[in-house]
Amino acid sequence: MKPKVFVTRRIPEIGLEMLRQDADVELWQEPYPPDYPVLAEKARRVDGLLCMLTDRIDRNLMDSIGPQLKVISQLAVGIDNIDISAATARGIPVGNTPGVLTDTTADLAWSLLMAAARRVVESDRFVRAGKWKTWGPIDFLGLDVTGAILGIVGFGRIGQAMARRARGFDMRTLYFSRRRHPKAEEECRAKYVDLETLLREADFVSLHTNLTEETHHLMNDARLKAMKPGSILINTSRGSVVDSKALHRALTSGTIAYAALDVTEPEPIEPDDPLLTLDNIIVIPHIGSASIKTRNKMATMAAENLIAGLKGERLPNCANPQIYT
Ligand code: GLV
Ligand code: GLV
Repeated sequence: MKPKVFVTRRIPEIGLEMLRQDADVELWQEPYPPDYPVLAEKARRVDGLLCMLTDRIDRNLMDSIGPQLKVISQLAVGIDNIDISAATARGIPVGNTPGVLTDTTADLAWSLLMAAARRVVESDRFVRAGKWKTWGPIDFLGLDVTGAILGIVGFGRIGQAMARRARGFDMRTLYFSRRRHPKAEEECRAKYVDLETLLREADFVSLHTNLTEETHHLMNDARLKAMKPGSILINTSRGSVVDSKALHRALTSGTIAYAALDVTEPEPIEPDDPLLTLDNIIVIPHIGSASIKTRNKMATMAAENLIAGLKGERLPNCANPQIYT
């Protein structure tokens, strides 16, 4: 008998085909994720779980799935929705999909940076509302990107890819990160500074950290106030890295000029969230890795991790490799 697997959303077919060769696959076909009790019920007694960042995978869920659970494979690089220490304590490897989405996500962060700087989305809304009557010498003035100062918070793969793009725009790049990355900083021509300096000097602040206890609400009232007046905040990491109420205060009091978010708190953002009443914000629905090519690669990687786990082999990309020592 083939091992049993539950896949919590429809993923690109290439990944499903790989899974079907080695496993008995049950697929959640609905347009919305299964809610927690449904997920617990569907995943009961499976050998492998292929999940999304929209699924909460905690210790109770692992226990209700049962001790036969061999592997959890997430279709994402970020795994803050999974209780990793609970998985590790149970000897369950957790797979993720780093690397393949780096450039795709940096491209999206860059699109947000440009769109916020030049007020692209707001101008489009203006045209569609029938308000474009003439060319205006002082209409829709924004910030120059070329020659500006970019501040990158979190200098992992995606943060570094952002820094590489900045070179093409003759930007000066500052970064802040838990630890220094001497080789990457030289290659990307980025300068390590403390967070205070970065916030004070950068025209654009782009967030690329994981969500952890340390980075939860990293951008709070005080840090938003510490940003350069007229600057722009871009978040493609996790919504809760920014305190969204503090962001609303910063955007309405004019502390910062603009924000562009691919991720929100909560996610999805409530339709009546006060942030959505503001003109100086762009909000898009967590599409950082959403290119055809990258999602196919992510599906392939997630399937490879799952299959390796089912076979008791080491996962090609494991987020808790300490289980192997
Ligand atoms: C997307 O947000 C990911 O973590 O892959
Ligand atoms: C603007 O369109 C210009 O020609 O300066």
